[in-house]
This record gives sequence, structure tokens and C-alpha cells, in this order.
Amino acid sequence: MQVSNFADARQGTEIAAIRADITTLTADVLINAANSTLSGGGGVDGAIHAAAGPSLMTECQRIFRDSGPCQTGSAVMTSAGQLDASWIVHTVGPIWSLHEPAESARLLSSCYRSSLDLAAKVHARTAAFSSISTGVYGFPKELAAPIAVSAVEGWLQNNLDTHILTTVTLVCFDEENFKLTNEALAALDRYGR
Ligand code: APR
Repeated sequence: MQVSNFADARQGTEIAAIRADITTLTADVLINAANSTLSGGGGVDGAIHAAAGPSLMTECQRIFRDSGPCQTGSAVMTSAGQLDASWIVHTVGPIWSLHEPAESARLLSSCYRSSLDLAAKVHARTAAFSSISTGVYGFPKELAAPIAVSAVEGWLQNNLDTHILTTVTLVCFDEENFKLTNEALAALDRYGR
């Protein structure tokens, strides 16, 4: 497993990149790349549902029945079934082909911020994100990685008093995402943010 750590000097919260299958990780909150009906699918969503077991789908269906679709850029939270986590946050990333690039960027950034809002609500110390929208939803990875990093960093800066996160991990399934995420984190470090 490859890991890179970038300490955030100002808040003491570490942002880490890791190349891994998210279902093998231990974290207070794991963040899933879901769809608006929370109905499961392939990719990381399929892997998370398979590893968590059927209770996850039951919870997702209940949320959909009670609250309707989860809007693009927002997030909902469930328990984590058999995964080694306390919570799963399900966020719905933008489908790249449906929006102007600037709007897609805004929505992707919103996914990260909404997910961290929920993680803070349950007093998470550790949160691990999948690379939202970079699979089936077609968001270019070279654009998504810096958006993910700056959204997490920005949220941490703006929520100093509302969270106790010690580590936010950006989980990359493939080498390309891992490389791009490391580059985005290194750029953040270079500018001392
Ligand atoms: N662990 C970590 N990351 C994974 C895993 C895994 N087990 N499996 C896939 N990934 C990575 C992919 O390599 C990609 O970089 O997750 C990233 C997101 O890809 P998708 O899962 O396709 O998610 P997304 O592009 O946001 O599309 C969401 O796909 O599965 C459906 O229900 C989901 O309809 C929704 C859509």
C-alpha cells in the first residue's frame, strides 16, 4: 500500500493520499461516490455495498423513501454495516458531460465540503474519501485531484472550531489518481497552505 502524508501546519490535520481499496480501510467515516437515488451501482459504490452487507442498502432505501433523491453536490450518511468504519457518507458527484466545467468543479467541491460537514457532525477523527466522479461520471482526473485537495483544505481552514479531524485521507484506486493527488498535495505544501 502506498501512502503519502502532508501535514497541515496551521491546524494539525493531516491530509494523506493513499493507493488502496477503500473497503479495506479503517476510518470513522468512509465517503462513497453514490448516485442520487442511493440505489448502489458499480465502482466504489458497488464495492462498498458488497463489503458492508445488505443493511447498507436497506438504510439507503429508507433515506430515499423519506427524503427523496440526494442532490448532486450534497451528501447523506448511514451506518457502515460490516465495514471497519462507524459511518458511510454517500455523496453524489457531478456527471462531467451534464454541466459546464466551472459548474462541475463547483459541484465536486461541494461534495467534499458537504461530506466533511457530516463527518464533523458525528465528531469524526478520521475520514477517507473515494475519488468522487472520476470513474463512470467521467470527471477528468487531472482536474478532479486539485479540486479535491483544495476543497478539503479550504473546509479545514474554514471549520477550525467545528471539527476534531486528525486525518483526511484521499483514497486513490489507480496509479494515475494517486500521482495526481500527490502532485496536488505537494503544490499545497509548497505554498505553505
Ligand atoms: N476503492 C476505492 N476507489 C475505488 C474502488 C474501491 N474499491 N473502486 C473504484 N474506485 C475508484 C475509481 O477508480 C474512480 O477513481 O473510485 C473512483 C470513482 O469512480 P466510480 O465508482 O465510478 O464513481 P463516480 O465516477 O462518482 O460515478 C458514480 O457510479 O457506481 C456508480 O452508483 C454509482 O452511479 C454512481 C456512479
